[in-house]
Amino acid sequence: MIVVFGSINLDLIFAMDGLPSAGQTLLARSLDLHPGGKGANQAVAAARDGAAVTMAGAVGSDGLRETALSGLRRAGADLSRVAVADRATGTAAICTDAAGRNQIVVAGGANLQARADQVEDALLAPGTVLLVQMETDPGECAALILRAKRLGARIILNLAPAAPLPPPVLDAVDILVVNEDEAAWLGTHLGCAGDAEALSARLGGTVIRTLGGDGVEWAGTEGGGRRPAPRVVARDTTGAGDCFVGVLAAELDRGRPLADAIHRASCAASLSCTRAGGQASLPTAAETDAALAGIPDAAVR
Ligand code: RIB
Ligand code: NA
Repeated sequence: MIVVFGSINLDLIFAMDGLPSAGQTLLARSLDLHPGGKGANQAVAAARDGAAVTMAGAVGSDGLRETALSGLRRAGADLSRVAVADRATGTAAICTDAAGRNQIVVAGGANLQARADQVEDALLAPGTVLLVQMETDPGECAALILRAKRLGARIILNLAPAAPLPPPVLDAVDILVVNEDEAAWLGTHLGCAGDAEALSARLGGTVIRTLGGDGVEWAGTEGGGRRPAPRVVARDTTGAGDCFVGVLAAELDRGRPLADAIHRASCAASLSCTRAGGQASLPTAAETDAALAGIPDAAVR
């Protein structure tokens, strides 16, 4: 079983010809409203990949809530640990350009009211994969991670966006997933290099560093490696990191070895980049299976 503690947002996705700079007013080609949030996206990615997922987080008691939850509902996630708070539902303004790049501004709102105790002890036993990101209150993330460690759950932390956590919390994490910017930030923060090897040596657990179109590298006690990304034409990279983390969790929850889980996760993430939108672009298990079948094993190093 997978438990996700994280953000549930409404995404306002502006399709632009270029990304705005300070002081600039640009006209968007279109606006789409979609469910999003790193927590919800990862939960949906895992559920679409076939996992049983419980989502814990908070939404507002406003008109944005239902759209924000709609993807989780469709994917069949258990929403009984989602609280309704007296703040606005988390909202993200996402500008995407023709090259598939994006700029994202997030107003956390209700997400910052999500509490670790919404996840009861019984959900954190061995056999649970716990997924946490950094769009909820860091103190609550820390409390949940430390409790999950005591109770035996396998803990995956996606340090996105990058923010400090106390050393014992980082030590408790089994698998840390960071992109290049987050890895560089963490290396500076910890006083070591920002590659997977150095971060893992420093923290003890497995560290996976995603490299966008250049693939992924990882290091840790379960072994390390590097693999290129399947070659695709990126249309919209929004949520690709969330896709990676969700599918990684689903595959580990099925008992697959780390290297296989990384392979499937990067394939699913590449597929999501070929489609518009964030949460809307997350593939089903069958779609990822089909894409995997087209990737030569020789790509595994
Ligand atoms: O990782 C993509 C997500 O980041 C978006 O869905 C947006 O809501 C922000 O949280
Ligand atoms: Na996408």
